[in-house]
Amino acid sequence: MTKVKQKAIAKAKLMPKARFITFEGGEGVGKSTQAKRLVNSLKNKAIMAVRTREPGGTPKAEAIRSFILQGKSESWGAGAEAILFASARLDHVNELIAPNLKKGTWVISDRFLDSTRAYQGLTGGVNDTLISALEELALNDNNPDLTILLDMDPKKAFQRMRTRDADKSLAGEVDRFEKENLDWHIKLRENFIKIANNNTKRFVIISADKSEEDLAKAIWQAVVSKFPELKEEKKT
Ligand code: TYD
Repeated sequence: MTKVKQKAIAKAKLMPKARFITFEGGEGVGKSTQAKRLVNSLKNKAIMAVRTREPGGTPKAEAIRSFILQGKSESWGAGAEAILFASARLDHVNELIAPNLKKGTWVISDRFLDSTRAYQGLTGGVNDTLISALEELALNDNNPDLTILLDMDPKKAFQRMRTRDADKSLAGEVDRFEKENLDWHIKLRENFIKIANNNTKRFVIISADKSEEDLAKAIWQAVVSKFPELKEEKKT
């Protein structure tokens, strides 16, 4: 074996195993910002990481995303939408998530399977048998290693979203799930907590009702406590 090859193998052995981390929660809790920050924190530790989102992440899944979020599938009902989300997920897993993990890149996803269970399943009324079957189909054993549930009172989250939208002139981008009423979002929050409590090994619940900076710190602490090997990594 050449020295270069030996060095590469030794380096690979030192790198922590690539992990799959997902963010979940209701609307306006700061998932996208925090997913971005987590990827940066990992990169600061010289760890390869990609950020992705659901629905979406690959061209096919992004096409399904715009179809659903523009409201085109609304009249088909929550069951059909669950199937659409799962179809997008299948492509996302096969084309982006699994290949990245395989080559040693950490994957950080803004939403994943628990959103289907929370939105279409527990809140939308689609039965558990269908949701579980769709999970099995789309995941193909690529379960997240850690899921961070950002929990927040929906009233406060909406307030935050209004400020964000006013700042960035995104008012026209309110999607169909954001249009549901407050009671629906309160129910959604309870359902996410129910899912987390049923999967305590995988989930950590973090209150998102804090500054962006403090939330990023709390998330990083949770990630390091789940994957202590990160403590060993040197800062670049
Ligand atoms: P997005 O603009 O990404 O919202 P957010 O910033 O809150 O994540 O839109 C995604 C929407 O799709 C969001 O309302 C949640 C919904 N959704 C489902 O209903 N089921 C799913 O399986 C997924 C992945 C998302």
